[in-house]
Amino acid sequence: MKVAVMGYGTVGSGVVEVIEKHSDSLVKKTGGKSIEVSRILDLRDFPGDKHEKLFTKDFNDILNDKDIAIVAETMGGINPAFDFTMKLLKAGKSVVTSNKELVAQRGLELLNAAQESGTNYLFEASVGGGIPIIRPLAQCLSANNIEGIVGILNGTTNFILTMMIEQGMQFDEALKLAQEKGYAEKDPTADIQGHDACRKVCILASLAFGKHVYPNQVETEGITNITLEDVSYINSAGGVIKLLGQIIYISDDKIAAFVSPAVVYNGSQLASVKDVFNAVLVRGDAVGDVCFYGPGAGKLPTASAVVADIIDCAKHTDRKKIFGWGEGSPDYVVDYKSSVKMLFYIRAKASCTKINSVFGEVKYLTRKGQPSDEVAFITDIMTENELNKLLLDVDGIEVINTIKVTNY
Ligand code: HSE
Repeated sequence: MKVAVMGYGTVGSGVVEVIEKHSDSLVKKTGGKSIEVSRILDLRDFPGDKHEKLFTKDFNDILNDKDIAIVAETMGGINPAFDFTMKLLKAGKSVVTSNKELVAQRGLELLNAAQESGTNYLFEASVGGGIPIIRPLAQCLSANNIEGIVGILNGTTNFILTMMIEQGMQFDEALKLAQEKGYAEKDPTADIQGHDACRKVCILASLAFGKHVYPNQVETEGITNITLEDVSYINSAGGVIKLLGQIIYISDDKIAAFVSPAVVYNGSQLASVKDVFNAVLVRGDAVGDVCFYGPGAGKLPTASAVVADIIDCAKHTDRKKIFGWGEGSPDYVVDYKSSVKMLFYIRAKASCTKINSVFGEVKYLTRKGQPSDEVAFITDIMTENELNKLLLDVDGIEVINTIKVTNY
């Protein structure tokens, strides 16, 4: 079967590499069909690349090629990826993608188009890089009512935080290293501000609960406010800071979903997820907690998931795979600040006497070099709105940082 790859960046070139390296075994895995990359779409030139003859800058070379049945979209971004994917699906070609931004923002339209044309639109690589999570959630866990999902969903930020925690590295230096290793998005703002994790939360929430969740419904905070001082205080409490995406079932027509840095205590499975690794913990009413762990970014891990989708499309040319969800609604994702209770870490300029007068007995944390007018403590359980109200009552407090504490 002929396959095209759109976007020859880190992931796209990995897809071509994996297909070529495994060409013999792919024949067995597809039930006798060989997989051959026959076109690569990219606007850039790749002089000297051994695939030079396959390159095109014209999308129509793929759309109009009747022999191409499956297309891997590894371009990223909404446009022109959306237009291209829609045209391909309508033309009867299956599309597989690593493009979480597109699936999170416009996945429903594309899934509906695939449904109408009897093709497949698969996106295993869009969440967790090489970790199998889309199929397990859609199929293996489908007997459960999902109670919650929490994940370390961005490799770049997990790498940065690990470098800060374990090497005492400054944020900028760690980000530069993550970019050099090819983990970060083209614009790393999407990583460090939490937008990439937010898109993955949208995909997981849509899949788990059956209604499209859009990025603007998921309150998102990145890791740029995290300092080595916070890392040090939290270390003294036996925990680490992770960027977490959290999804909480509230009722059949309500969920909470948010992305933020969070304190994870060392006993948690999530605390030991380091470097570029990701983990997704799913809590089901029948199964309990299951945790999926693996490399969340990078060329070959992500290509591994894309190529698995290609194999699945090749195996199911006559049978549609059912992964999908329905329409969402504006009030489907509730304001977590008024509805989800948790503990909080607070670092502030304030006296213990004033903190205790409002918060009662709290657990104070310490760090080396702690200034005499600085306190750090863990609150009791409350909503974020309740916390903010209490902080207003602490005379003269100057809050430096607030971080959620997870109970996973
Ligand atoms: N920039 C993303 C990350 C790539 O660091 O996780 C994989 O989605």
